[in-house]
Order: sequence, then C-alpha cells, then structure tokens
Amino acid sequence: MKILGIETSCDETGVCIIEASEGNVAVLGNQLYSQVKLHEQYGGVFPMMAKREHAKNLVPLLEACLKEANLWTAFPALDKAGWHSDDGAVGRIKEILSREVELFNDLVKLLEKIEKPEIDAIAVTNGPGLEPALWVGVVFAKALNAVWNIPIIPTNHMEGHIVVSALSPSLDKEGLGAVEYKIKETKYPALALLISGGHTQLVLIKDNLQYEIIGNTCDDAVGEAFDKVARMLGLPYPGGPQVSKYADIWKAKNSSIQTFKFPRPMINSKDFNFSFSGLKTSVLYTVKKIENLTEEIKQEICFEFQNAVVDVLITKTKTAIMEYGVQTLIAGGGVIANKNIREALKKLADELNIEFHLPEISTSTDNALMIAMAGYMNIVAGKETTNNFKADGNLSLSLLE
Ligand code: KG4
Ligand code: ZN
Repeated sequence: MKILGIETSCDETGVCIIEASEGNVAVLGNQLYSQVKLHEQYGGVFPMMAKREHAKNLVPLLEACLKEANLWTAFPALDKAGWHSDDGAVGRIKEILSREVELFNDLVKLLEKIEKPEIDAIAVTNGPGLEPALWVGVVFAKALNAVWNIPIIPTNHMEGHIVVSALSPSLDKEGLGAVEYKIKETKYPALALLISGGHTQLVLIKDNLQYEIIGNTCDDAVGEAFDKVARMLGLPYPGGPQVSKYADIWKAKNSSIQTFKFPRPMINSKDFNFSFSGLKTSVLYTVKKIENLTEEIKQEICFEFQNAVVDVLITKTKTAIMEYGVQTLIAGGGVIANKNIREALKKLADELNIEFHLPEISTSTDNALMIAMAGYMNIVAGKETTNNFKADGNLSLSLLE
C-alpha cells in the first residue's frame, strides 16, 4: 500500500511517500523544508508566516517527492485532456483552496503536467499544532482528493511521533539515510514519553493505537523550556539543539565545578504531571544576577538545566513504567533528538529490562514519514478514510480511544 504523508503542523513542511506492507516500510520519497532559518530572526514561530511558507512549499515538495518515488508520469506533450476532461475538478479545488490562491495556481500547474499517481491513501496531520499552519496541509490534501479521488486519513501529529519510533532501519543508502525499515513489534502495555516544542506527555498505550494520557505538563513543554533558556542566554532559535551543544561542551570538560543548582519541579509529586516554568524562572533569575555571561558560564548553565530536565523526565517515566507494568518504552518528539535524554532513557529501559523504541534523530523532529506511518497503521487497524474533517490545533490523542 502506497501512502502520501503531509505534515504542516509547525515550522517544517513535509511530504513523504511510503510503500508499506506487513512489517516493512520502504520510503519511496521524502521531502522536508525547514523554515527554521526564517523564524530564527524573530526568535520563534509566527503561525501566519509558517502558514504562508507551507502554502509556498507544498507543491514543489510534492513534485520533488513524486519524482523521487518514480510516481511522476508526465502527460504526453500535446495531450492536455487528462484531469481537464473532468470539468468539475477545477471548480472543486478552486473552492477548497479559495483562501489559498497561490497554492491553487501552483497546484493547477502541477496537475496539468502529470497523470494521477498510483497512491492508495493520503495521510495528513490535522492536529495538534498551529491551526493556520495545519489548515494549509488539510486543504491541500482535500484538493488532491477532489481531483485524484485518493482517500484521506486524518492523522494525529503526536501519534506520528509514537509510531515512527517502531521503525528500525533495514537498508541505508549513502547520502539518503535509511530507505527501508522493519516495523518492530510493540509489547503492551507500552508507555510513550512525548517531548516536543508544544507537548510533554506520558501516554499509556494499552493496545495497538489505544491511548490514555496519564501525564501532561501544567505549564511549559520541555522543548519550550529549552527554547526559552536558549533565548535568555542569547543563543539562536530553535534553542534545544544549542542548549544541548553547550551542555555537551561543559560535560566534555569533566569539571568538578558546580556553581549552579536548579530545581527539579514536581519530581516527587504523586501524579505523572510535569512543570517546567519554575525551572525556567530559576535559570532566568540566575542569568539576571550574572554581570558577565561568558561562554563558559553559559555552558555550565546549559549543563545544569539539562540535568534537571533529565532527572525529572527519568524519575516520572520510571515510576509510570513500574506502576503500569509497562513492557515497551517509546520515546518521541523533537526533544528526543537530545543525545543526553536518549542515553538516559536507554539506560532506564536496560535497567528495567524492557523493550525500547527510539526514533532515529532524523525522524525525532517533525517530518512527513511519521505521518504516512501513522496513516498506514490506522488504515490497517480499520479506521475509516474521510474528507469531512477539520484542522484542530488542540487535537488530543485520547480522542482516538
Ligand atoms: O517535535 P518538534 O520538531 O516540533 C513540535 O511538534 O513542537 O519539536 C521541536 C522542539 C523544539 O522546542 C526544539 O528546541 C526541540 O524540539 N529540540 C531539542 C533538540 N532538538 C530539537 N531540544 C533539546 N535537545 C535537542 N537536541
Ligand atoms: Zn512534533
């Protein structure tokens, strides 16, 4: 089964085509355009700007992806019949893309060039995320559905982060990374720790695609805390990788100096909820008191901040694993790209002797492969395709129960 995945929930525009069969996934095409450079100058993501960029990028990325996947069949030069023979199609997509004139024009140009590709379903992120950004992906998928009649499976972004962790590379191509994967079996109950720019969640997965959120952040998400600490230290957006880099530099020094000690909020609370705003504020007060914020001091602050985060995440995750008799630990979300967090979770899974599903670094941050994968898993599980759905910035995993 061939699935086209579309991701536009935040600041990455992703288009991916996979061919999935039982236990195996081949990545036929995978295109990602990161808007990080654009948002960097403003120190954060502006939803309306992200939306405009997605609208600009979707058609070129789809074209590149179809070509990469060898699914690009051009019309014979003089035969312009093709989709124009279906009189209603232009009108239908014009209506669907009525607020996205540029996207409509780009799409029409693309549709004039090619035959309908052999794709069985379109998986598109419909939440959670920045709603204007989500809408662009959703209407794009609906337009493709209107002209090509390929069914749509609306997909939860967080579920994408969960299921992509089960992919284990089975074939790497130089320069491209993994192009084929095996889908690892998940033993239930499983527990997913999802940490990204917008989420910090512990999700209990009792069975295939059955989610219960048992822990949530009361304020800032982990990624948000990383990004804010970076800003306090004058490091560029997105801050996570920068803070992580500075922490690593300090760690490599193996210094016995410990000037700072930050709190571990809610580490001993009886529930599985998190809070990172107190930690962030503690870093802020510390930074404000320092007159000369040298690179060395920044490194030490990053290291201590990261240690505090790791301590909280590991303690809560461990307690949840024990309480629920968890057999597979799953890690997901952009912050999982952090080397120290990866290592600490691996150590925890080894210590408790349970399975560990960890995505590659490249599939930890937002991408469309995870969306195609979530679409595939849902189709296999019997979820209905539909084109009657909305973008929902607050879409919850628990609704899927
Ligand atoms: O999942 P993601 O790509 O987008 C959201 O859905 O939010 O996560 C982005 C977040 C950002 O806050 C970014 O700073 C953080 O992941 N991040 C990291 C690292 N790489 C990305 N945080 C800590 N260490 C990293 N290496
Ligand atoms: Zn994400």
